[in-house]
Amino acid sequence: MKIALGADHAGYEDKDRIVQMLRDAGHQVLDFGTHDATPVDYPQYGYAVGEAVASGHADRGIVVCGSSLGIAMAANKVPGIRCAPVCEPLSAELARRHNDANVLALSERLTGWEMIERCVHVFLETPFDGGRHAHRVAQLFEFGDMQRERTLVAIETGAVTDASTPKELL
Ligand code: RB5
Repeated sequence: MKIALGADHAGYEDKDRIVQMLRDAGHQVLDFGTHDATPVDYPQYGYAVGEAVASGHADRGIVVCGSSLGIAMAANKVPGIRCAPVCEPLSAELARRHNDANVLALSERLTGWEMIERCVHVFLETPFDGGRHAHRVAQLFEFGDMQRERTLVAIETGAVTDASTPKELL
């Protein structure tokens, strides 16, 4: 698999360990940095990994920052990206099975290495379940002006509490 990686100064050590681990396992790695503790801005690294995946230069992406949160927010700005910040393997598994996550976000400051290693393996090895999850994943990319207007109307009329999902798909 071709995997894009990126991290800020608070995540580069784990990112470098993941890079090594993936290379040892025979994966192709695109390493966008950063490579040392000099402070940098995490959005740039999240965007780079997101664009690499969205454009097809990489099959999956992995990003690391201090908390996993900022760099995940950045990656999720890239159209086509479904980035999941996770801190344990079950979330990594569900992010693949239910959400078809294509980028994984990890926290170097809050998650131990052993847990990170397990999350990475699960993220790379778990398939998307498809089925009832497929149309929900598709909806994640429908949030244009029309969807925004429909959602606002639904909130204003109180209809947002009335799920419009067909019962057989629940
Ligand atoms: C850097 O100090 C830290 O804010 C960053 O790595 C990340 O946790 C942001 O969400």
